[in-house]
Amino acid sequence: MSAAKTVSKTDVPGLSLVHRGKVRDVYEIDNKRLLLVATDRISAFDCVLPTPIERKGEVLTALSSFWFEFLKALTNNHLISADLDEMPENIRRNKELRGRSMFVRKTKVFPVECVVRGYLEGSGWKDYEQTGEICGHKLPANLRQCEKLPHPILTPATKAATGHDENIDEAEFAEIVGAENAEKLRLLSLEIYRRASEYALERGIIIADTKFEFGLDEAGNILLIDEVLTPDSSRFWSAETYVPGKSQTSFDKQFVREYLETLHWNKQPPAPALPENISKATTARYLQAFHILTGDELAEN
Ligand SMILES: Nc1ncnc2c1ncn2[C@@H]1O[C@H](COP(=O)(O)OP(=O)(O)OP(=O)(O)O)[C@@H](O)[C@H]1O
Ligand SMILES: [Mg+2]
Repeated sequence: MSAAKTVSKTDVPGLSLVHRGKVRDVYEIDNKRLLLVATDRISAFDCVLPTPIERKGEVLTALSSFWFEFLKALTNNHLISADLDEMPENIRRNKELRGRSMFVRKTKVFPVECVVRGYLEGSGWKDYEQTGEICGHKLPANLRQCEKLPHPILTPATKAATGHDENIDEAEFAEIVGAENAEKLRLLSLEIYRRASEYALERGIIIADTKFEFGLDEAGNILLIDEVLTPDSSRFWSAETYVPGKSQTSFDKQFVREYLETLHWNKQPPAPALPENISKATTARYLQAFHILTGDELAEN
């Protein structure tokens, strides 16, 4: 294996950084195109950790590319290229971007997160415990934490600029995106989830829930945007160890969370660093998820 180098933060000369998320750095190329760079930053309990995870950005990028290709008969998407060699020279010369960058069509983003849940966990579980429903979906009584739902449901949330996203019901969703788009996004999200989760389950990974984002291109077509079906946008569980009635360890952050739980950390920033055995094991988990889902080893960049 070549000497791996982590990338915690990018500052690409000459490009205009429009957003730095917990994990991704977003540059605007022009009014039609963006560059999404997945760094090796990792967050846990909503805090970015000071220790980068080798190869994580590459896994997120390659996995999103895999899913865009897998789903292309079902939905248009924003990806122009994830191959640095196909990008303009001013991007291409930044070698640290290789393997972690998506050159994409800039869209008018629908300001909603299209969350699809097949299982009961996270804010869905909290809402269900309190009200017996999630986003207006009435659910059977006595479901256990992480239990499989009778059928997958769309539980949209607003894209909050700061703080936590807020779950909304169908009427609020339709008010934000328009009734016609709401119906299209609902059907599309459920179908993408159905196809992807069936595929993943055959390979041993439960996609418990996931979040999609969509935008409109200049011609008014709906495109699937952002990252897709990655461990950062989804809950991946191992099908082998799945038992409802308790929380499941997420496939990717298992070692990180278990380690952090052994510390006396109050889960407020600054987050503690990870020892090398934990960061290495986490890299291995990300690579394993990629391998299970795609059948391929992640190529060296
Ligand atoms: N094709 C696109 N057109 C316009 N905006 C896009 C497109 N694809 C993705 N985006 C936007 O890029 C941004 C990515 O930044 P985001 O804050 O999600 O980064 P992140 O590292 O995933 O952080 P977080 O963990 O906080 O979500 C999102 O606001 C998303 O809506
Ligand atoms: Mg995000």
